[in-house]
Amino acid sequence: MSEQPVVRKGQDVEVDITALAYGGQGVARIDDFVVFVNGAIPGQRVNVRIIKKKKSYAEARVLQLVHESPLATKPRCRHFGSCGGCRLQNLVYEEQIREKGEQVKDLLVRIGGLSDFEFFPTMPSSDIFYYRNKMEFSFSRNRWLTPDEIASGEAIARQTHYLGFHAKGFYDKIIDLEECHLVDPTAVDILKTVREIARQSGLPVYSTADHSGFWRFLIVRPSAATSDLMVNVVTSRFDEKVAAWLKDELMRRFPHISSLINGVTRSKASVAFSEEEHLLAGKPTITDKLGPYTFKISPNSFFQTNTRQAGRLYDIVAEYAELQCDDLVYDLYCGAGTISIYLSARVRRVVGFESVQSAILDARENCAINGVENCEFVLGDLKDELNDAREIKSKYGQPDVLILDPPRGGMHPKTIKAVLALRPQRIVHVSCNPTTLARELAVLCESDYRLIKVQPVDMFPHTAHIEAVAQLLRV
Ligand SMILES: C[S@@+](CC[C@H](N)C(=O)[O-])C[C@H]1O[C@@H](n2cnc3c(N)ncnc32)[C@H](O)[C@@H]1O
Repeated sequence: MSEQPVVRKGQDVEVDITALAYGGQGVARIDDFVVFVNGAIPGQRVNVRIIKKKKSYAEARVLQLVHESPLATKPRCRHFGSCGGCRLQNLVYEEQIREKGEQVKDLLVRIGGLSDFEFFPTMPSSDIFYYRNKMEFSFSRNRWLTPDEIASGEAIARQTHYLGFHAKGFYDKIIDLEECHLVDPTAVDILKTVREIARQSGLPVYSTADHSGFWRFLIVRPSAATSDLMVNVVTSRFDEKVAAWLKDELMRRFPHISSLINGVTRSKASVAFSEEEHLLAGKPTITDKLGPYTFKISPNSFFQTNTRQAGRLYDIVAEYAELQCDDLVYDLYCGAGTISIYLSARVRRVVGFESVQSAILDARENCAINGVENCEFVLGDLKDELNDAREIKSKYGQPDVLILDPPRGGMHPKTIKAVLALRPQRIVHVSCNPTTLARELAVLCESDYRLIKVQPVDMFPHTAHIEAVAQLLRV
């Protein structure tokens, strides 16, 4: 006789949420069978409906809250529940970081097969609201409707231009943003003004379905350490009339904007990145500070989004690198040279590698601004740049330390191979994706390296994201 499945699609069942999975879903178990519950937090008892059933797990959505969690707190934001950003705003902060730390450890052990390393509790962020120095908002022709709006049955006035964040799990629907508690409120005021101009312009929002339309993204970057404020309205082409309108209206309402840019992208990818920049007002860059250093940042250059926490992250990087004054450090994925410059006073020399040209130019200028003379920056895609280890070493020298800080997608396998061929004594791996981190550490540890310790750092309170720093030593 075949065994009855523990759960089946469409089934309603009452469960206790015992943990939080990476990505922010609640975890429940029915006879040891894992059920991921969207929008539930640890400590809750909920009645759920199974919406997906796989061999080793199921997914469910909440039908009704049976008991509230003792770890629950009142979310601040009206968009909580539908916005894809702050998934954890209803969970007390101490528990957010405890759970996120557990996720990192679990992924390192389960996916990476790693053991025998020291693991530290997550370092909390000193600011848990209004901590972001960069927001990327997307335009869309489709708005996300809340369950309450749908249930009300009232006719909903339709617009053709929406601007905000993607709704949780929907890449074509936008939360038409009214508030956000992760960034200075001025950013949302600017968003409202740009949305108003877009609606009045008669020009359509860009559609990823047929790649037509004008309005694409809005990027707002308020510096944490200075009064600089960059606004970049990204469109599919440059239109002089629109540009003049944006300039007049935004500079009239927000005269403290220090850099107003109309970026243009012709890329079909839904990435807020401009290939061409038209400076409408102010200067082309903004300035921020990390520790004793000042950094100039161009519109397309990466800069850690939580400035205060970035200084603490870099302090851990410096500690894990066990820097010696005669060291040669390679800083892979160096962005605008922030880690390189932060470490530069403690070592002989740093060589940074980065694929975005404006970031490399910023890095060089940042050295000049800070009087740093022992850093060099190399432009190129790391998967092509590092392949010949012998040539790289003869050009730049044998590195003692390698810093790795790849983007969320992780490192290319060729780059991991190249890292092994460079044979540094110490590697510090900084990652905002514990899944790729686990895989990459596993490859490094299969070879000549041993994972010594890992420190999760919360750079992104209330979101499901978590950063982690790992130290590896050559054995
Ligand atoms: C997470 S950021 C880290 C930047 C820097 N370390 C910091 O803390 O500000 C990753 C950087 O890697 C760069 N990048 C992404 N893919 C790359 C590649 N294939 N080769 C070189 N750089 C790359 C990005 O442009 C970005 O600046």
